[in-house]
Amino acid sequence: MTTGWTIWVDVIVLGSLFGCAWLLWINRTAPVERVGKGEPMEHEYDGIQELNNPLPAWWTWLFVITIVFALIYLALYPGLGSYQGMLGWTSHGQHQGEVEEAQALYGPLFDKYAATPIATLAQDEDAVETGSRLFLNHCSQCHGSDARGGDGYPNLTDDDWLYGGAPETIVTSITNGRIGNMPGLAAAVGGDEGVANMAQYVISLSGRDHDAAKAQQAASTYTTLCVVCHGADGKGNQAVGAPNLTDDIWLHGGRIDDIEYQIRTGRINQMPAHGNLLSKEKIHLLATYVYSLSH
Ligand code: HEC
Ligand code: HEC
Repeated sequence: MTTGWTIWVDVIVLGSLFGCAWLLWINRTAPVERVGKGEPMEHEYDGIQELNNPLPAWWTWLFVITIVFALIYLALYPGLGSYQGMLGWTSHGQHQGEVEEAQALYGPLFDKYAATPIATLAQDEDAVETGSRLFLNHCSQCHGSDARGGDGYPNLTDDDWLYGGAPETIVTSITNGRIGNMPGLAAAVGGDEGVANMAQYVISLSGRDHDAAKAQQAASTYTTLCVVCHGADGKGNQAVGAPNLTDDIWLHGGRIDDIEYQIRTGRINQMPAHGNLLSKEKIHLLATYVYSLSH
């Protein structure tokens, strides 16, 4: 703290303590000398009179006790300027102590979990439960508290994967994050009409009602433009996170408008890396939880 702030805090803290003590002191006897003790005083409000009495003793003593408590507290703990207090307590030290306690308590458990392969660990209810709590803290804001995702955020409970559902792949997704990147292809497919035709072709892949003539017109463009990422059969490519287009499960919505938007403008969709935020052991448990949801 700078000297200015130290003075500011010290003056307010000590000023209020001594101010309270002073107020108590001057009020220790009956307030007014002209009127006898316990007699009504001259003023009256709405028929209510005040008697000439000192403050009740119990009330005065409560105040004395709080003042003494404050002085002892200021002697023991840091509260004034750069004075550290007789106990040498710091909030940083307390936090450090709690971290070490938690480490001693949970460390061995986390180590045991970390040594168990994810597919096996997913049978262990306690491990999955711990993983689910980590998920609520770190992942639910995007994937939802039930991990079912939402618009742009994949559902992690089904067996439909952008990048793959093998234990190591899930660990990689969490540790390094993912960026799904599809370029906008409006011009390449031939403008608005091309986009509309291509959207009909896309919904035909999952067997939905579609305009067969329009879809047919887009078939060869699909082969030249989309196959690289989404595959000839439309089942996607987990190496680049290109979704399966044949399962009628949609990351960005399945309405014709949504699909046309995707083809026209493309998208960059990012899952942030968590490797620098969470320990390996925690990521192991998170991956166990995610894995358990679909297995
Ligand atoms: C800021 C939002 C956000 C947070 C926080 C987040 N994710 Fe994601 N996650 C995404 C997005 C978006 C994607 C899809 C990326 C893409 O489209 O390529 C994704 C993808 C994934 C995938 C790949 C899914 C697949 O189908 O292959 C997994 C697994 C995953 N997240 C797990 C987690 C876990 C576990 C956490 C918590 C540690 C987490 N995510 C936190 C946004 C988030
Ligand atoms: C460079 C690779 C690449 C090419 C080329 C590509 N896509 Fe994609 N596509 C992706 C990726 C990656 C995503 C997922 C984006 C995300 O993570 O949000 C995607 C998403 C989509 C979606 C949304 C799927 C959903 O579940 O919501 C549709 C529809 C789609 N692509 C259609 C096409 C069509 C049609 C073409 C060809 C005109 C095409 N894509 C070309 C990579 C590609």
